[in-house]
Amino acid sequence: MSTTSARREQPKLRTLTGRAGGRALGGLLGLPPATTGYTVSHVRVPMRDGIHLAADHYAPTTSRPTGTVLVRGPYGRGFPFSLVFARLYAARGYHVVLQSVRGTFGSGGTFEPMINEAADGADTVTWLRQQPWFTGRFGTVGVSYLGFTQWALLQDPPPELAAAVITAGPHDLSSSVWGTGSFAISDFLGWSDLISNQEDPVRVRVGIRQLTSQRRVARVAAALPLGESARNLLGAGAPWFESWVAHHDQNHPFWDRLRIGHALDRVQVPVLLLGGWQDIFLRQTLQQYQRLRSRGVDVGLTVGPWTHTQLLSKGLAISARESLAWLDTHVGGGRAAHRPNPVHVFVTGQGWRHLPDWPPATTQRELYLQPGGSLGELAPAPGACPATFRYDPADPTPTTGGPLLAPSGGYRNDSRLARRSDVRTFTGATLTHDLYVHGAPIVELVHSSDNPHVDLFVRVSEVDARGRSRNVSDGYQRLGDAPETVRVELDAIAHRFSAGSRIRVLVAGSWFPRYARSLGTPEPTLTGRAFRPATHTVHLGQSRLLLPVGGAA
Ligand code: BEZ
Repeated sequence: MSTTSARREQPKLRTLTGRAGGRALGGLLGLPPATTGYTVSHVRVPMRDGIHLAADHYAPTTSRPTGTVLVRGPYGRGFPFSLVFARLYAARGYHVVLQSVRGTFGSGGTFEPMINEAADGADTVTWLRQQPWFTGRFGTVGVSYLGFTQWALLQDPPPELAAAVITAGPHDLSSSVWGTGSFAISDFLGWSDLISNQEDPVRVRVGIRQLTSQRRVARVAAALPLGESARNLLGAGAPWFESWVAHHDQNHPFWDRLRIGHALDRVQVPVLLLGGWQDIFLRQTLQQYQRLRSRGVDVGLTVGPWTHTQLLSKGLAISARESLAWLDTHVGGGRAAHRPNPVHVFVTGQGWRHLPDWPPATTQRELYLQPGGSLGELAPAPGACPATFRYDPADPTPTTGGPLLAPSGGYRNDSRLARRSDVRTFTGATLTHDLYVHGAPIVELVHSSDNPHVDLFVRVSEVDARGRSRNVSDGYQRLGDAPETVRVELDAIAHRFSAGSRIRVLVAGSWFPRYARSLGTPEPTLTGRAFRPATHTVHLGQSRLLLPVGGAA
């Protein structure tokens, strides 16, 4: 059973975020013209345990609808989600159900991140089947958490599901939270803070909180013990937060319900994956592509030069066009031509390339870290003087750009960072030719420390002819306790290092607040109070950068 009520929209919203906004945005994004009007009604969708989830049904006013789109998320059903994931499709003939997940924006029950999405998604499809207007085939779309809800449904794909468009949607929260061995504090405290406050009825307060969130989160992350400090920020909100910080072992059964990787083995329908080179979930998007591709699933991949949040701004035109085309091909009965090349990547420093697969074939190039801070093709002679630096948890190396949920993420000038005394840099000779890199760089460091409780941050940057350095790719790892060769896999890239520029490797002992800093003690992240500095030593000889080079058109 469901109840339905027609919604009367407020006039001011109608202009900016409503129908007219949808038409204007569709034009700005370069979508094919709207084909129909539509109505919007509120519906309540019953779940197996008796609670109801709130949703909006966008119904095209045409006798020949194209198909149905299901969108499930925790961020409400207003702007920008209404515009980007509902109106654009409704105006092109799709019935759209935009639903608020359990415990959010008028939906019954309690919000427990990820936990209920498989069952609630399946119950929503049961309801969908019973609707007289249902077209018999549907697709799913959405970004980030709205992508996780799609993977949740794909664990047991309903027969009517014809395609999915998953933008930066994780299938395994544990690997994003604890994958480096250090808690990704800025992203997940920032997100928990957002969720805790997003339904404050004083909308202006929500806006101000979001604008100041990054500063607040950094301050809270610096205070010890972290659990207490975070709870002061969150108040009664985000009750899950401490349990995420406490479960540092990614393989602990605690994470099983937040890890739904088997969906990648069940999905059969065509899936378009969209992501950004600077997105916090890039590694998962690329894993999803590899898994689906290896199973012979029809999978498309588009990766642009964007951060997580830029997928809804700078990246919106490309992602809206490609998402609509994917649905038109696979849900709308072939209304759009099949995508000739499955992979579209933005080669930073160059532009878009369409490829048959990712990554293209490359060869490995080794560049050795040299005494004096250079980078060269030959390994330094045995006995070369090592590079050392002191890491002080009281003044941790600060996050400067890179994949972050916060607005300061992305490509940044990191020249000042390179001058810090707690950062070692190794810079190559000026390139005489363009150098293309496609895939994940690796940094191998022969490393020791006077303190076994340390982390390593490594970055590859490009230094231009004027000496200005800009990040290309990052990696991070919490270390074990013996002197060892550390192998850090950096984020994958498609990048052209231009002739005239230089390749730089940066090494530091923290990257704060993207990751909870190492305290230099064995105390747990949640409760640790004391800290102890460390002196890192990078032994030169076999310490090197491995680049997958080539693959250019
Ligand atoms: C997101 O929806 O953007 C999100 C979800 C979980 C963690 C971080 C971000």
